[in-house]
Amino acid sequence: MTATTSDTIPKAAIVVGSQREHRAGLQIAEFVQETLQDSQLSAKLAIVDLAIWNLPLYNEPGIPSRIFSAQEYQHEHTQRWSREIASYQAFIFVTPQYNWGYPASLKNALDYLFNEWKGKPAMIVSYGGHGGGKAAEQLKQAFGPGIVRFVCREKEGNSREIR
Ligand SMILES: Cc1cc2nc3c(=O)[nH]c(=O)nc-3n(C[C@H](O)[C@H](O)[C@H](O)COP(=O)(O)O)c2cc1C
Repeated sequence: MTATTSDTIPKAAIVVGSQREHRAGLQIAEFVQETLQDSQLSAKLAIVDLAIWNLPLYNEPGIPSRIFSAQEYQHEHTQRWSREIASYQAFIFVTPQYNWGYPASLKNALDYLFNEWKGKPAMIVSYGGHGGGKAAEQLKQAFGPGIVRFVCREKEGNSREIR
């Protein structure tokens, strides 16, 4: 039997999709992390908080799908973001619903990269004032085919899809 070292334990990122002050997103991400850790998951879970990354609006000259290593990006913030995302084997996107979609902060962070996400399993935890289903559907449509592999999605509770 091969011994498990910290290098061989898979790492999953819980990506906090909202960036505004006093957001619910971080608390929800922490709840997800604690819940999964309590279930004896054999993966390391790290919170990747977009508010801390605070990426500018996409400003690379290149097209992410044609870039295969961090050094090929022009900006230092993209190189760091690329290395961060490349270091995870799976993702949980924690996204609020803003105007029936997922927030621009999350779209921007996703758009920055392509091959770093590609083919990796992912799931969505969505929430909102009245429901997060539309945000989850949009995220799945935009980012699913050919990019990440959405393996499941959270069940909504008693949400009503009204603004
Ligand atoms: C710009 C904006 C648009 C919103 N649009 C919706 C919406 O379409 N449907 C909904 O259920 N809630 C909507 N809400 C409520 C948010 O989903 C809710 O406040 C949620 O907690 C926001 O996540 P956050 O606290 O992590 O930013 C909106 C909130 C904001 C700030």
